[in-house]
Amino acid sequence: MRIKNKYRKPTTFNCNAGGRCSMSAVVWSLVGCLLMLHLYSLARHKDGVGGEIQLRMSQHPQFRELLEVEEENIQMPPPRKRSPRAAKRKPKRSTTLIDEFLDENSQLRNTFFPDQRTAIDPMKDTGNDSFYYYPGRMWLDTEGNPIQAHGGGILYDQKSRTYYWYGEYKDGPTYHAHKKGAARVDIIGVGCYSSKDLWTWKNEGIVLAAEESNETHDLHKLNVLERPKVIYNEKTGKYVMWMHIDDTNYTKASIGVAVSDYATGPFNYLHSKRPHGFESRDMTVFKDDDGVAYLIYSSDDNSELHIGPLTEDYLDVTQFMRRILVGHHREAPALFKYQGTYYMITSGCTGWAPNEALAHAAESIMGPWETMGNPCAGGSKMFRLTTFFAQSTFVIPLPGFPGLYIFMADRWNPADLRDSRYVWLPLIVGGPADRPLEYNFGFPLWSRLSIYWHRKWRLPQGWSGLK
Ligand code: GAL
Repeated sequence: MRIKNKYRKPTTFNCNAGGRCSMSAVVWSLVGCLLMLHLYSLARHKDGVGGEIQLRMSQHPQFRELLEVEEENIQMPPPRKRSPRAAKRKPKRSTTLIDEFLDENSQLRNTFFPDQRTAIDPMKDTGNDSFYYYPGRMWLDTEGNPIQAHGGGILYDQKSRTYYWYGEYKDGPTYHAHKKGAARVDIIGVGCYSSKDLWTWKNEGIVLAAEESNETHDLHKLNVLERPKVIYNEKTGKYVMWMHIDDTNYTKASIGVAVSDYATGPFNYLHSKRPHGFESRDMTVFKDDDGVAYLIYSSDDNSELHIGPLTEDYLDVTQFMRRILVGHHREAPALFKYQGTYYMITSGCTGWAPNEALAHAAESIMGPWETMGNPCAGGSKMFRLTTFFAQSTFVIPLPGFPGLYIFMADRWNPADLRDSRYVWLPLIVGGPADRPLEYNFGFPLWSRLSIYWHRKWRLPQGWSGLK
């Protein structure tokens, strides 16, 4: 029996003018169909790129491992016993996994920050465990010391065919400059590590050091130096370092530039400034295929990002700048390019506490940038809402494996910043979505970008860095 639905609009045309009306209806239907077909083929085309990778990847058993969605269920610990007096004094507050993560006395401490016994030590004969990344574990350099390269980035040096990892050397005591100030470590400098395989890292020393006595110097130890990134300038033959320079209270909000003839420094500090006259906090630099490099920084109280090309020598910004993701409050930008499309991962703005990552894409690096959604796959809902309890810092391209990248993130430990951990995970453009796409009615304009959680994982053996 058919039930008449009084709220349903009639689907047949009810038209008195007959011919003219049905003609325009037909024309419009045709236009609609063509539009849908176009959108569909566009989506197919974009997917096609990803589809190819998926195909190639899924044929390779080690790729299949990377694409597996691995669950991770961290249970909240039972509430701690409290004395009746304590319970009366302060009502019990409900805790979340993030509270547990931030609580240095939590019973889950070892889950988030596994102790030294489980450290990754590439110099030890680990047999079958060689080349495996264990996100969140301590990671030792070739001398057996924990790697100190936080908020870092990687430079691949063509000349020496070596990877260099630069980051904040934070091996000092954590303290609060003021009661309400963020936890901090005095500037020690920028640490540099070298590697041929992205797993074994040799300490190349501090390549840009703090200034001990001159209090007016940007690098005076009581200031802030964060997120250093190095790019190589083919025209000048110089290695150029860009970094976030600030005072203890984060009011200077500037960028700093340093330069060196060698990847391993020492770097000569040039100057700091507010790029384009605007505040600049979390930042990164990105060098495009045509040699033009760009600065991307959080500005206007971190409410938006700014992007603009650098001068030819990479030592300054030019006058060109675009505001992007205005009002989105994003920071910790990490950029990369795949098949002509620019991608960026950002975090929210919650200081050292973890939050949800978002992926963005653009046809032109200067924008407009569109937000695609949370790229994190696997783990648990809480893992995905906290970027696996970490914050983006860089995305490493892997030559020979189009579509496969390493997502580099920091698992900050605000109670002891030097013991912050590295979360490296496979990032894949074009892999299968782990849930329905969140945008534009099923016609994704961009390939799916996924960061897959793994307790342990390794790069596919065919990767050129692994012999
Ligand atoms: C974060 C930022 C870090 C550091 C931290 C200080 O938002 O990404 O690089 O500045 O704040 O609280």
